[in-house]
Amino acid sequence: MIDAAALKWRRVRLPGGSVAIPSRADQPASELDQELRLLMRALDRRPEPPLLEVAAWDAGLEIAANAAGWPDDGMLVPLNLGASESCEAGAGAWTVVPPDELLPAEARFAVVRAPHWLGRAGVEWAVRAAARALPPGGLLALLGDRARGIESLRRRLPPVVGPIVDRAAGEHRRLYVLERQVDVPPPQRFAWTIPMRIAGREFTVCQHPTLFSPTRVDPATALLAEKLPDRDGRWLDLGCGSGVLTVAAGRSDRRLTAVDWSYAAVETTRRTLAANGIEADVRLADGAPPGEQPFDVVLCYPPFHVGPRVDHGPAARLIQAARECLAPEGELRAVLTSAQSPRDLLRPHFREISPVASAHGARVFSCRQPTARRGRHR
Ligand SMILES: C[S@@+](CC[C@H](N)C(=O)[O-])C[C@H]1O[C@@H](n2cnc3c(N)ncnc32)[C@H](O)[C@@H]1O
Repeated sequence: MIDAAALKWRRVRLPGGSVAIPSRADQPASELDQELRLLMRALDRRPEPPLLEVAAWDAGLEIAANAAGWPDDGMLVPLNLGASESCEAGAGAWTVVPPDELLPAEARFAVVRAPHWLGRAGVEWAVRAAARALPPGGLLALLGDRARGIESLRRRLPPVVGPIVDRAAGEHRRLYVLERQVDVPPPQRFAWTIPMRIAGREFTVCQHPTLFSPTRVDPATALLAEKLPDRDGRWLDLGCGSGVLTVAAGRSDRRLTAVDWSYAAVETTRRTLAANGIEADVRLADGAPPGEQPFDVVLCYPPFHVGPRVDHGPAARLIQAARECLAPEGELRAVLTSAQSPRDLLRPHFREISPVASAHGARVFSCRQPTARRGRHR
């Protein structure tokens, strides 16, 4: 866990009174409070347990369900370790389950509060995951912002899930309740792999709808992939996403480790590596992998959003994690967008910072001589 990502509590007004919900500061949980309020106000039936929320950023649904006297039996499915920790912090009897451990027909009533910042394909992926966990006749409540495409998504879903059996509106949000009737949904329309050329070599990159830049390799990623240091040793791709930088770094004299806190990123990076015949130790981790020897090179393209909002807190924590896992002679090779400040993000952690390349507003930096460590995080 990264220390600065402490839990914050917020109060959410619901029809029967208000509830307090904890979540990590680097999670976008509060973005979907209006959806929670609409669900609790508009649903005219007590859902049959077990309940389920896919793309849960905290335990808000469980806390609201308890306050409303709904059955205390459910599952929260977060998309990353930060969300998982937020869910655990508020979860009582409900279990917190990684997406790939969700079993078919495990729930009777599923909720998706559309995380619109993931794009239409990302939300559709969450809906499909929720629908798979329902038996025939199970109900799926989809909630989303009218201004963020929930109505057009709703039109695409009956062939995937089944008919809409109930609906409601309020708080500029929409609720659609679908009944699972479709046995074998058509495949999701999404380019699951794309070809890419890096430093004169051809690669296949696997993609996932819930990951960063899901339909193309981001120009900043491509720039860093072209500008890797010519060193051997122990390399870490910190926040590996779909694994582009890990495959670009693949060389027989390098030992590669790739980490991300997103379950889908770890799975997708493994697939990208397999598609290109490259080996690496790929791990789920919040920040740097715990208990590792220091790395000679760390690659990082830090995030710049928490949900839909620009927020540099997660990037600052990731760069700090990079510093803390580097060997004294090691190098962080980082790419920043024009919205990210090298002075704020890199300067506090490195004495020597040199620009390496820039294009399309992205800048690659070589960062050496880590400043004094304040102790490794776990
Ligand atoms: C801007 S994206 C870059 C992804 C990939 N390196 C690329 O260039 O396509 C940042 C990545 O950092 C990951 N990330 C954010 N915070 C993290 C944390 N605390 N620990 C591990 N990974 C994190 C995100 O899941 C995301 O995959």
